[in-house]
Amino acid sequence: MDLPATGHESVLLDEVLSWVAPRPGGTVVDCTVGRGGHSLAIAQRMEPSGLLIGLDVDQRNLEYAQPRLAEARTRVRLFYANFANIADVLKEAQVDAVDGILADLGLSTNQFLDPQYGMSFAQDMPLDMRLDLHIRQTAADLVNHLREQDLADVLYNLAQERYSRRIARKITEARRISPITTTGRLAEIVRSAIGRRSGAPEKIDPATRTFLALRMCVNQEIQKLQAFLATAPKLLKPGGRLAVISFQSTEDRLVKQAFRSTAESGLFDVLTRKPISPTEAEIARNPRSRSAKLRVLLRRPEGQ
Ligand SMILES: C[S@@+](CC[C@H](N)C(=O)[O-])C[C@H]1O[C@@H](n2cnc3c(N)ncnc32)[C@H](O)[C@@H]1O
Repeated sequence: MDLPATGHESVLLDEVLSWVAPRPGGTVVDCTVGRGGHSLAIAQRMEPSGLLIGLDVDQRNLEYAQPRLAEARTRVRLFYANFANIADVLKEAQVDAVDGILADLGLSTNQFLDPQYGMSFAQDMPLDMRLDLHIRQTAADLVNHLREQDLADVLYNLAQERYSRRIARKITEARRISPITTTGRLAEIVRSAIGRRSGAPEKIDPATRTFLALRMCVNQEIQKLQAFLATAPKLLKPGGRLAVISFQSTEDRLVKQAFRSTAESGLFDVLTRKPISPTEAEIARNPRSRSAKLRVLLRRPEGQ
């Protein structure tokens, strides 16, 4: 895959534009600005008098996106904030309700690859995994200090790792020898805990689930997503749309259930009975888009 100069290719871009349907003069919140790809395209569709409000917990990505978004000839306001606090951000921006809200969950490709984030076992790097540098606990803190049972629970509950106990045992044995401080050493410990099963070759690296669970735990991804899904629908104007792209089953399930129960009030409709997936052409161009699922919720227009 050729990585674009921005370090991230926006996923389901055309689909987001057609489902969120930003219009000149509208107000849309992009809760996950990242490298600014979705934000820029949305802002340009709201020229000349629209307002794009952008949030991200990663100040490094926000700083990257800011000059890029200056290309849009409409207002753009960026906030270093967690989308769990979207209501506070809108209050600060003095906006009561908006036409569209987008959350493109997970990580931008640069966050996976850049050693300063400490996310990846594809190369050896200091083990960190914080998107927001104001978070105090890194992944290294978790693997070196959590009790064995708690570590196993994190791996099982967040990534359904079926070898969670074995892995937690190996980690606690290894950290007695010396603290685990790099992604490479952690991946080796996990691989040694699971071993190679005979038969078909593994499709994914055995360390993948452990890394996913630790990242979700460090950044409190489930708690933040739940808080966001409980708040965001209330911030839509009648006719407004909430679009969420998720990349893994736990998140997609939360989005699906939250949309369903929000729609039970009779004020909202789920527009996507089945989630929207990338086309084969997009997957061929950007294999990282493969697992993306887009779901959209509509606040019913007045009188309907
Ligand atoms: C998949 S990337 C977004 C890419 C973006 N749509 C683009 O086109 O460049 C996800 C972004 O969401 C941010 N993020 C993750 N969790 C967040 C949260 N709870 N609140 C705000 N931003 C979050 C990450 O730091 C990352 O920059």
